[in-house]
This record gives sequence, C-alpha cells and structure tokens, in this order.
Amino acid sequence: MSQKTVYLDRNENNYGPAPACFDALRKADLTTLSWYDRAFVKGIKGVLSSRLAEDFQVPEDRILLGYGAETILKQVVQCYLGKGQKLMVPAYSWWYYKLIASEVGGLSVEYPMVVGEDQFHYDLDAMRKLYASEKPDMVFISSPNNPTGNSLSIDDLKEILAVYRNSIVVLDEAYKYSGHTDYVKDLVYTNPNLLVVRTFSKYYALAGMRIGFAIMGTNLTALAKFSNRYLGFNRLAEEVAIAALDSKEYYVGIARKMQEDKELFYAELNKLPGVRVFRSDANFILAEIPRTHVEPLQKYLKERGLIIKFMNEALLNSHVRITLGTQEENRKLIDTMKSYFG
Ligand SMILES: Cc1ncc(COP(=O)(O)O)c(C=O)c1O
Repeated sequence: MSQKTVYLDRNENNYGPAPACFDALRKADLTTLSWYDRAFVKGIKGVLSSRLAEDFQVPEDRILLGYGAETILKQVVQCYLGKGQKLMVPAYSWWYYKLIASEVGGLSVEYPMVVGEDQFHYDLDAMRKLYASEKPDMVFISSPNNPTGNSLSIDDLKEILAVYRNSIVVLDEAYKYSGHTDYVKDLVYTNPNLLVVRTFSKYYALAGMRIGFAIMGTNLTALAKFSNRYLGFNRLAEEVAIAALDSKEYYVGIARKMQEDKELFYAELNKLPGVRVFRSDANFILAEIPRTHVEPLQKYLKERGLIIKFMNEALLNSHVRITLGTQEENRKLIDTMKSYFG
C-alpha cells in the first residue's frame, strides 16, 4: 500500500478551517456568482472589507483586500519603491520580499537579527543604526517572522516605528496566531505611513481561498487607489472569510493546540544530538541540525513520506523549518526523527 505524503514544509494550517466555513460554502447561493456584488451601490467596497473595518474599528477605506497577503506585499512595493530605491528587510526572512523589490529594480538591504539561546530576536539598535546609514525608502518588518518564528513586542514595535516615521513601513503579520485587532488602529493612526498586512491563509486555515487584507495608515492614499477594485471581490471567498471571523472559539482552540504541539517539538527535538530548536510564535518551528545530517535526514524523511523544509540560504543552511501538522502527523515526524538520530 502506498503511503500518503505528509507535507510539513509550506506553513499551512493543517488543522483546517472552522466548520462554519464549510457550511458557508454548502449554503452559498451559486446563482449570485453570475453577478458582481454591487457593493458600491450601498456605498461600501464589499462585505468583507466592511466587516474588517468594524472589527478593527477603522473606516472601510483604510482596509485593503488582496489575492492573499502576497498580492498586497507586491502592490505596496510596486506602488512606492522605485528603481534603485532601497527596501530594508530582515536578514532571515521570506525570500519573496527580495524578489518583489528586485522586480521593480529596487535594492534590498538586510538588517541583522540576534540568534539567542533558544529564540531569534529583533535587534532594535542594529535596526536603528542601519536605517540611519542606509536611509531606505521602505522597511519590511515581519512579526512573527518567517522562518525564524520570533515576533516584536508591541512596545518595541512602537519604538521602532517612531524611528521609521519618514519611510513607508510594512508590518507583515501573516503569522499572527490570534485574531487580535485591538492595537492595530492605534498603530496606523500614530504612523500614517504604516501598512499592517494580515491573511486568512494561516490562522484561519484558508490558504486555498487566497484572501489577504491590510489596514492602511492615512498617508497611503496612492496605494488605496492603486489596489482598489471597483467591481468587488470574490463573493464566495468573502462569505467563507466572514464565517471564519465568526468562529473565534474554534480558532482560539486551534491556537491552543498548536502551542501544545510546539512544546512537544521543543521538548522532543532538543533531546536529539546536535539539534537546537528555536521558540516560535507562528505555526512552524525552526531547528538547527548538524550540517552533515542535512542530506541524509532529508532522504530518510522523504522515504518515509515526510516532507519538511530544509533551508538552503546563506545564513540558514543547516536548519529545518517544520510546519505544525495534526497531532498524529507531528508524532510521526518526531518518532521518525528520533529513529534517524538513533
Ligand atoms: C511571511 C509571509 N507573509 C505573507 C505570506 C503570504 O501569504 P498569503 O499570500 O497566502 O496570504 C507568506 C506565505 O507563506 C509568508 O510566509
């Protein structure tokens, strides 16, 4: 019997969306799909942006929707970063940031992060100094950061945003593992050049629906115009997203389970010889493994139907990034890694 491959390499949420999301699809009136939603007739951009505006307590025109957070990240770069201009990104971060900067002829400047005993940390001093010397036009902050999993505290965030006030700042919160909305309004009103980006892909387990959103500071009117869509959004996706927003208890429960899953990974993998696991606020963890084990471990896991991400970057080439699976999948991965390391 062929075994089913378990993919724990893509940072998806393997617990799946809330039951209400499936109900929304089952009950959807498919006849409406022939038409634009005509939300503009009601003086709104759409039902989902209206709902998000309510949740974040900002006017609806401060909300952007996109085909995943990736589209919004690309749009903000296309809108504001010119040829030869600088985008400051974390040294360890999602490769896509540098790609979208290069697509417009922009230059990426990397700010360092501190590798602590059991966690990565943002280094505010280094971020401040590099900003002063490089004078970037745009800065990306990712919290929690992919692939390191660490976040910035709200106080640190406020401190560094005050320093960056004259640049466009994108705070990528794709991996925010809570539906918390409370601090965002204050951040975007205090920092008019700030864009806070979130997604339904991770916490809400709706990666396949491709819905990202952002809350915009008041100076970003060019972006609002650039990315606005007159004829509305994907009606089904909006309904499913609203069902997810209405399912708070379900997602809080999943986040709690994931916290337990991470504790299990920290405890079990840290026992393996030469392995060091970094604490993460996201739905994945990063672990350092002995360099000599990279290829044989990858082969060993693959033969047993387990795919995790073996990092292949200048600074992270002896590391694996493991997306949390279901509890059964996590157990299988841990046991297989234990048997590999003997
Ligand atoms: C740091 C980060 N931001 C944003 C995204 C984009 O997510 P999506 O386009 O699915 O909303 C990803 C996807 O993996 C990511 O790793």
